[in-house]
Amino acid sequence: MLGVCYYPEHWPEVWWPDDARRMREMGISFVRIGEFAWSRYEPRRGQYEWEWLDRAIDVLGKAGLKVVLGTPTATPPKWLLDEYPEIAPVDAHGNIRGFGSRRHYTFSSEIYRDESCRIVEIMALRYGQNPAIVGWQTDNEYGCHDTVLSWGREDLKAFQAWLRRNYQTTDQLNEAWGNVFWSMEVQDFEQISLPNLAVTEANPAARLDFWRFQSSQVASYNKLQCDIIRKHSPGRWITHNFMGFFNEFDHWPVGEQIDIASWDSYPTGFVERFPFSEEERNRWAETSHPDIAPFHHDLYRGVGRGRFWVMEQQPGPVNWAPWNPVPKPGMIRLWTWEALAHGAEVVSYFRWRQATSAQEQMHSGLNLPGLSELSVGGQEATRTGKELQEIGSLPDTEQAPVAIVYDYEAYWMTRIQPHAADFRYEELVFHFYESARRLGLDVDLVPPGASLEGYKLVLVPSLPHVSEKALKAFENAKGFVLYGPRSGSRTRNGATPEGLAPGPLRELAGLRITQVSSLRPGLSDPVKGKASGLGIRWREYAETGATVLAKFANGDPALTAKNKHHYLACLPDEKLLGNVMAHICRQAGLKTTKLPPHIRLRRRGKYIFAFNYGDKPWKASNLGKVILGSNLVAPQAVAIWRASSKTDK
Ligand code: GAL
Repeated sequence: MLGVCYYPEHWPEVWWPDDARRMREMGISFVRIGEFAWSRYEPRRGQYEWEWLDRAIDVLGKAGLKVVLGTPTATPPKWLLDEYPEIAPVDAHGNIRGFGSRRHYTFSSEIYRDESCRIVEIMALRYGQNPAIVGWQTDNEYGCHDTVLSWGREDLKAFQAWLRRNYQTTDQLNEAWGNVFWSMEVQDFEQISLPNLAVTEANPAARLDFWRFQSSQVASYNKLQCDIIRKHSPGRWITHNFMGFFNEFDHWPVGEQIDIASWDSYPTGFVERFPFSEEERNRWAETSHPDIAPFHHDLYRGVGRGRFWVMEQQPGPVNWAPWNPVPKPGMIRLWTWEALAHGAEVVSYFRWRQATSAQEQMHSGLNLPGLSELSVGGQEATRTGKELQEIGSLPDTEQAPVAIVYDYEAYWMTRIQPHAADFRYEELVFHFYESARRLGLDVDLVPPGASLEGYKLVLVPSLPHVSEKALKAFENAKGFVLYGPRSGSRTRNGATPEGLAPGPLRELAGLRITQVSSLRPGLSDPVKGKASGLGIRWREYAETGATVLAKFANGDPALTAKNKHHYLACLPDEKLLGNVMAHICRQAGLKTTKLPPHIRLRRRGKYIFAFNYGDKPWKASNLGKVILGSNLVAPQAVAIWRASSKTDK
């Protein structure tokens, strides 16, 4: 269940056999290679040098390692950019983003698509049936370094063609975008420009379509690679390594193209990126927040339709965040076990050995820089490898009792027209997740429109556009449903729905929103009733015939219920959200356990796992037979129990 990312091209060939042997010794079975090595595969156009890779795969395979081969398209070589400078992406200000790091291509370049197919096909033909190769990774971290939205001529051409296909006539496009406003109408698709560099805000419908278009470019680009690999590499699976807190393209359709989703877990780096308060950031700096990695495990388990890996697991400090602390002792082991508890098939560390040159010298590895000597993270991984061997295989992951509906378009729509500077979809979803997990609940993340069967509680933190499919799924849901603010507030084109928000949900939820108000930091509206706390940042004015469970200070409805469908008409502070969650869980008949902020539980079949992110031991009671650790879970430690009966689960 352990793997590692390895760069044979960075180290003398005489080291490879010893590296491979040491990997096996520490319990590593999988090794990912090759994803950035294009300049070594093809130093000049048409001059291929595969022999070194043949030998590397051979050495790794002979040592008993299973190889995951990456396609090298995240790093087109210099000669290719020189030949075709139009491959490079362009930023929103119109500047070319040039050669010298990575991801210097736009998904819209037809030339780059052809070049990618060429190199992928050669690799798939050469290695597709190699017995050491068990799987493929397409490219590396689509969209990393802000490369989904590119704003160049190649993008414009492809965008115009996409609009023509989707709208057929400019009349339909003008209508859909509301172009009569400010005389934005066009008579020809070629008159359409990219929605940047306008004097003030560009049309939100155009921006939404541009985002949709670029997202579909990522998916169609990925599909090109998948089709080639499938053709020439039978019996091997395909993955792509997604990122944390990354919403620039819709991951659900890309997930459908691959066999296993994987993601790159850098928990301390993400603490710096997430909009935490300084106090929270300091608190979690050296352990990360206890929901950051789990949130993504649950998301990518969903994206991979039940199958996911951690392709890159932080093994010590990273190099790319504003501050990069050494994780507290025990955290590398904790994160590894935690991923497995959430259903990961493999946890693969990034990287085998810390680099001694170039951009990532300050990024830790399982071995010290340039040496064959385990780092602290390497020692923890070794310990985890031994424990895994002792424990053997883990039970299957089951459906969780709670689902969160996660929608990438919701992120785009609320980014395009935030209306409140601090309305952040990703933060809202994260807090819903956190609040359910603080009650000891397991959570699945699902796309809008997915079947909600079997879930006792469905959380919809916000879903501005409710498609027909999504509506059907809500209508068929047998469990309780909680919709958050702005749900149903937009049509597919980003317009106001007829009859006002929550649009298609009006019947189900039994209310209508007549006004919305954003509240500056420092302003809030107290909520009282079955759940109390504060509405912050965002507050809606609702008319309802449904039951009012909690009210704002002036008596307006804040939380309503019509049958099992609940609507929350504000952004809640931590207390209000916790109370709403506790109330609705009680109604839904969910068995909850109020956990301290630093403790999390997770079930995998009959196994119950506990993780301690804090600095005090935690005493667990009656969870079953101890499999690992003890009932007193030390700081940064893990415990596993086998539930003694069905009721313990
Ligand atoms: C990931 C990337 C790796 C490496 C790593 C460092 O985003 O896939 O290639 O850069 O970050 O943390």
